[in-house]
This record gives sequence, structure tokens and C-alpha cells, in this order.
Amino acid sequence: MTLLDALGSPRSLTLPDGGAVSVRPLERSDRAELAAAIARLSDESRYFRFAAAKPRMTERELDHLVDVDHHGHEALLASDPRTGRGIAVARYVPIPGEPGVVELAVTVADEWQGRGLGSALLSRLIARAVEEGHTALRASTLAANARSIAMLRRAGFRILPSAGALRDYELPLASGA
Ligand SMILES: CC(C)(COP(=O)(O)OP(=O)(O)OC[C@H]1O[C@@H](n2cnc3c(N)ncnc32)[C@H](O)[C@@H]1OP(=O)(O)O)[C@@H](O)C(=O)NCCC(=O)NCCS
Repeated sequence: MTLLDALGSPRSLTLPDGGAVSVRPLERSDRAELAAAIARLSDESRYFRFAAAKPRMTERELDHLVDVDHHGHEALLASDPRTGRGIAVARYVPIPGEPGVVELAVTVADEWQGRGLGSALLSRLIARAVEEGHTALRASTLAANARSIAMLRRAGFRILPSAGALRDYELPLASGA
């Protein structure tokens, strides 16, 4: 039994247009599929996700992305049940020096974007952060990333004072459990 099963989160979700997606916690064994999914992203999506041109991930970066302890660092993997391919990841990582505050990132495969998958995964991730007792979720996104900003605002995130090309958003969590 996985953590999500134990917590009663369903392992599938239905998108507003009826599309079905499988969801489960990301594990170390997903490394190769994660690398392939990142490689399949368009240059624009990779740029929006990493706020930098990122033609290829280093082995060390991939190690970090699958080093998920399911507490301070959580990652949910969505896959297409018809192909088994990874199509989205929503994760949070600890922010050094800010206990209880975690930083999130969501990535959806280009052909799945705009169907509500990012928003649906984000709400599952918010629920996990509440279950873990985190006090706030932070997100940093390029000011040009209209879709990401729309997703964060809809989920209740509020903008923080920020300068330059990045916009910082925060969602306080009524957890503290
Ligand atoms: C940002 C991202 C995660 C959003 O996921 P998604 O599945 O595409 O988003 P959703 O379908 O859930 O839509 C989110 C919001 O964007 C809106 N939206 C959809 N297409 C849009 C577009 N082209 N421009 C602006 N807003 C758009 C939706 O209407 C929705 O807003 P609403 O909930 O108020 O209606 C996804 O597009 C992505 O992976 N982008 C590349 C990587 C990235 O930018 N990551 C974010 C870094 S934190």
C-alpha cells in the first residue's frame, strides 16, 4: 500500500473534458520515465518550468528530482493510462531556512496542457502539504507565464512583492496539524 492509498487519495482523476489520468507518488524507479517526459517537453515549457533554457538535465538534477521523501519533498506523477507515459508532475521541496514553507512546481506535457490537469494535480499537492503540516506553499513563476499565473490564482495563491522577470506567489495553509 502506498502513502496515497493509505491517505485515501484516489489513484485516478477525471478531467473536466472527461479524460482519465492515473496519479501516484513519484518514486526513485520513475527516473528514466521522468527524464524521457522532460525531454519530450517543448523548449517553451522547459523554459517556463526551470526559468532557464534547459536542453538537458544533468544526472545530479535527475537524482534530486526523484529523491522524494514524501514529507518535506513530495512529488505526484500523473500518467496516461492508455500509454503508461508520464504526462505531469506536481512537486514541492523544502525552502532552506524557512521551516514549514515549501516551494512548488507543476509541469504538464504540452499536449495535455489547458485541460485542467495542472489545476487538478495542484489541488492534490495542496492536500498533501496540509496533511504533512506545512504552513505555506510558495511558487515562483516567470511573469510571462500566463497559464501558470492563472492556475495559481485560481488555487488561491496571492502575489508577494517581487521584482524582475519572476513573480512569487504564496498560499498560507490552515494546517499546522
Ligand atoms: C503551467 C501549467 C502547469 C498549467 O497546467 P495546465 O494543465 O496547462 O493548466 P490548466 O488547464 O489547469 O489551466 C490553468 C489555468 O490556465 C488557464 N489557461 C489555459 N490555457 C491558457 C493560456 N493559453 N493562457 C492563459 N491561461 C490559460 C486556464 O483557463 C486555467 O485558468 P482557470 O482555472 O482560471 O480557468 C502547464 O501549462 C505547464 O506545465 N506549463 C509549462 C511548465 C510551467 O510553466 N510550469 C509552471 C512553473 S511553476
